Amino acid sequence: MNRNISSTLVLALLLAVSLLAVGEPIVIGHRGAAGYLPEHTLAGYAFAYALGADYIEPDLVMTKDGVLICLHDIYLERTTDVEEVFPDRRRPDGHWYAIDFTLEEIRELSVHERCRDSGQPYFPGRFPVGKSNFPVPTFTEMIELVQGLNKSTGRQVGIYPELKRPSWHQERGYDMAVRLLEVLDGYGYRGPEARVFIQCFEPDTLKRLRHELGTELPLVQLISVASFTLTTRRGLEGIAEYADGVGPDKRIIEGNPRFVVWAHELGLLVHPWTFRADSLPQGYSSLEQELERFLVDYGVDGVFTDFPDVAVRVVGELAITTP
Ligand code: G3P
Ligand code: CA
Repeated sequence: MNRNISSTLVLALLLAVSLLAVGEPIVIGHRGAAGYLPEHTLAGYAFAYALGADYIEPDLVMTKDGVLICLHDIYLERTTDVEEVFPDRRRPDGHWYAIDFTLEEIRELSVHERCRDSGQPYFPGRFPVGKSNFPVPTFTEMIELVQGLNKSTGRQVGIYPELKRPSWHQERGYDMAVRLLEVLDGYGYRGPEARVFIQCFEPDTLKRLRHELGTELPLVQLISVASFTLTTRRGLEGIAEYADGVGPDKRIIEGNPRFVVWAHELGLLVHPWTFRADSLPQGYSSLEQELERFLVDYGVDGVFTDFPDVAVRVVGELAITTP
């Protein structure tokens, strides 16, 4: 073979290999596109998709009849009009529990911006409370929306479901982990390359998913600032035995940037949360600046954000690659 042609082929091969070995950080639409539309609504998920998110996050809880629905809390009152629709269904502790309602009943509710007990929205600059009408989606509706858009756009956006309080559900006879795997399998999410990350704060649930239920799907251990033992190098070594990545509160990395180095040494992806333009930490003057610090200086592999468009733009402008 001509020497010039063979060296060109070698260069092309090396380029192909290097492109396979690196990848841009991913942008995860947190609760959809919560900066713009009420969290966990099909409208919010579609908007996150349109803004360019690589993955879209549904938090999951269960209904009385065992259906996985997209909701952040095990309670309904902070993000829906349940007080008005079912005023008599409050438990003595003051909460309306999703698990006390059938899907048919949940269908009667309308989602609104997250509100405090006082009725005031957490983020006053966001979508107005009580305007328009947003049903509570089921997990399968969320998947069908994303897969439908993948078909019509040709993109391959993934999903990033979080099991909320699985042990609490288990104590009440509901096996969220098994149901989650059934649903994912039914929609074709199989094996380690599937465009899905399963996330959870409870290590035992993730260990069960991996070892007892035998899933090969990517798993992410969420870590709050309160879970100090999971933030140490030894803690990360334990996580690497059952998970593919970690989802830390971003303050953990800000307090100890070596956390990312340790995780990468152990082969773990790092996807911190939550990046918000309307709730900047001290020391940052813009979301762009904060994202740049985490993506470039700390080298994280993805970000959960309420503002996917900003993160997509920052990732694009920085042309970042991660190992
Ligand atoms: O799942 C990542 C992040 O969303 C965890 O916090 O409370 O928003 O579910 P939370
Ligand atoms: Ca979440």
